[in-house]
Amino acid sequence: MNQLLHALRAAGESTRLRILAVLKQSELTVSELTRILDQSQPRVSRHLKLLCDSGLLERYQEGAWVFHRISDRENMQDITHGLLDLIDLSDPALERDQKKLQEIRREKTRLAARYFSEHAAEWDSIRSRMVSDAAIERRLLEFADNAKADLFLDLGTGTGRILEIFASRVRKGIGFDLSRAMLSVARSNLENAGVTNCTVRLSDICSIDLPDACADIITIHQVLHYCDDPEQAIFESGRLLHPAGKLLIVDLLPHDLEFLRERHAHQRLGFAPATIARWCERQGLTVSRHETLTHDPPDRQSLTAGLWEITKRE
Ligand SMILES: C[S@@+](CC[C@H](N)C(=O)[O-])C[C@H]1O[C@@H](n2cnc3c(N)ncnc32)[C@H](O)[C@@H]1O
Repeated sequence: MNQLLHALRAAGESTRLRILAVLKQSELTVSELTRILDQSQPRVSRHLKLLCDSGLLERYQEGAWVFHRISDRENMQDITHGLLDLIDLSDPALERDQKKLQEIRREKTRLAARYFSEHAAEWDSIRSRMVSDAAIERRLLEFADNAKADLFLDLGTGTGRILEIFASRVRKGIGFDLSRAMLSVARSNLENAGVTNCTVRLSDICSIDLPDACADIITIHQVLHYCDDPEQAIFESGRLLHPAGKLLIVDLLPHDLEFLRERHAHQRLGFAPATIARWCERQGLTVSRHETLTHDPPDRQSLTAGLWEITKRE
C-alpha cells in the first residue's frame, strides 16, 4: 500500500507523466530527456530522482552516460502501464515529446549511417582489430550447427562477411543493412566469393519487410551496440524467427572505452548478459546458451564479446 502511494505521488505531476510516456518508448539519458522536455537539466534530474526513488524508474551507468528506463519490477510496470493507458496520447505536450524523441532517434541513426558510409571500404580491417574474427566465426557456425537453415537472415550485414561464412549451409540468405555504402561492399564481396544464394537489402533491422516466423537462423553480429533501439531489433528478430529457429547474437560485453562512442559511432558500451536475457524474456524469447569469447591469444587492445543463442519460449 505504501509503495503504491509513493509511486502514485511520484507519477502525479505533468512532467513526470511525460517522462514515463517517453521512457516507455526508449531508454534515454538525462541530456536526451532535457532536450525532449525542453526544461533545464537540474529540473529534469530532480524529476528523475523522484521517479527512481519511488521505484517507477531505474537508472544505470554505462561509461560516462547514465540511462533511465521504466522499472522491470512487475508490480511497478503494472502501475506505469496502467497509468499510461489512461493518458490521452493526442495531448499536445505528449505529441511534441514523441516528435522530439523521433528526431533524436533519426539523428543517432544518421550519425551511425554516416560513420559506416565513411568507413565501408576499410570496415573489414577495423572489424578484425576489435575482436578475433576467426574464433567468433567458428563458434557462431558451431552454435548454428543443428538448426535447419532454409531461410537465413543476417541483420546489420555490413560487408556481408556473415552471409559469406553461412552461404554453403543455407538454401537462401538475406542480409539487411541501413548503409548503402556497406551494402555495395557486401555485394562485391559476395560476388568475389562466388556466393549466389545470398542477397542484401537496404532496411532498418527494427522493421523488416518479411512475414512472421519465416527464418530458421538469424544472426546479429556486432550490430546491437550501433543501434538506437537494440531491444526493438531483438523484438523484430523474435517476430521473424520460426518457432524451431535460432537467433544468434554476437556483441560486446560491457566495457568503458568511451572513445568508441565519440569516434566510432557506438551507441552502447556493450551489453550485460542480464540485459540481453531481460529483453528476450519480454519478447517471448529465451537465452538457451551464452558464451564469453575472449581474444586468443589474449590482446589488451581487443574487447570481450558475448555469443548468445536465443530460441522461442515454448
Ligand atoms: C559493425 S558493423 C557489423 C557488420 C557485420 N555484421 C559484420 O560483422 O561485419 C554494423 C552494421 O550494422 C548496421 N546497422 C546499424 N544499425 C542498423 C539498423 N538499425 N538497421 C540496419 N543496419 C544497421 C551498420 O550500417 C553496419 O553496417
